[in-house]
Amino acid sequence: MNAVRIIEVCDGPLIAVVETLAQRIWREHYIPLVGRAQVEYMLEKFQSRAAISIQINKEGFFYYLFEDREGAWVGYGAVIPRSDELFLSKLYVSAENRGRGYGRSAVEFVEKIAENKGLPKISLNVNKKNTGSIRAYQKFGFVIIRPFVTDVGGGFVMDDYRMEKLLSLS
Ligand SMILES: CC(C)(COP(=O)(O)OP(=O)(O)OC[C@H]1O[C@@H](n2cnc3c(N)ncnc32)[C@H](O)[C@@H]1OP(=O)(O)O)[C@@H](O)C(=O)NCCC(=O)NCCS
Repeated sequence: MNAVRIIEVCDGPLIAVVETLAQRIWREHYIPLVGRAQVEYMLEKFQSRAAISIQINKEGFFYYLFEDREGAWVGYGAVIPRSDELFLSKLYVSAENRGRGYGRSAVEFVEKIAENKGLPKISLNVNKKNTGSIRAYQKFGFVIIRPFVTDVGGGFVMDDYRMEKLLSLS
């Protein structure tokens, strides 16, 4: 497995790095799945610097950047603790870095966060057409629970599956 450093995003310059990664990864990955209009709408609404800053400072999200051993940013993730679960809101590895174990390392890190907070479950939503990522999550131990449709405004919906992983808290 490749080593990855996981760094909490807590200032403007790191938020800007997330915004740049999001624009690159989301356009490459999601335009074929949901179309350019929805991707641009969602990038502006959820992954602009202003939106990320509000999520971190007002809404309880924690964002993390993944850095490889050469100091390059290879992806990012975000979680938000809820009363009975840790919601994995974002997990993105850049295309050229996939399949190198970074996603697994990130999920293991997220599991430790959940365990430290005494939360027995990690949940996430993943687009129904995002089959490769669904397979990766299944390898990480997540199971599909049910379809999950979210109205994100602007006439767009996210047509997802809810996936969950139960943790055995010691
Ligand atoms: C899903 C994602 C985060 C996984 O990260 P990753 O760094 O590629 O995953 P890993 O290298 O740790 O792979 C973990 C396992 O999943 C498997 N896997 C990863 N991507 C896969 C794919 N597209 N198809 C099938 N299996 C896949 C790997 O083969 C590996 O299996 P193994 O442990 O048996 O070898 C990453 O592929 C990604 O960013 N995808 C695009 C963005 C996205 O859809 N994110 C999820 C949003 S909900």
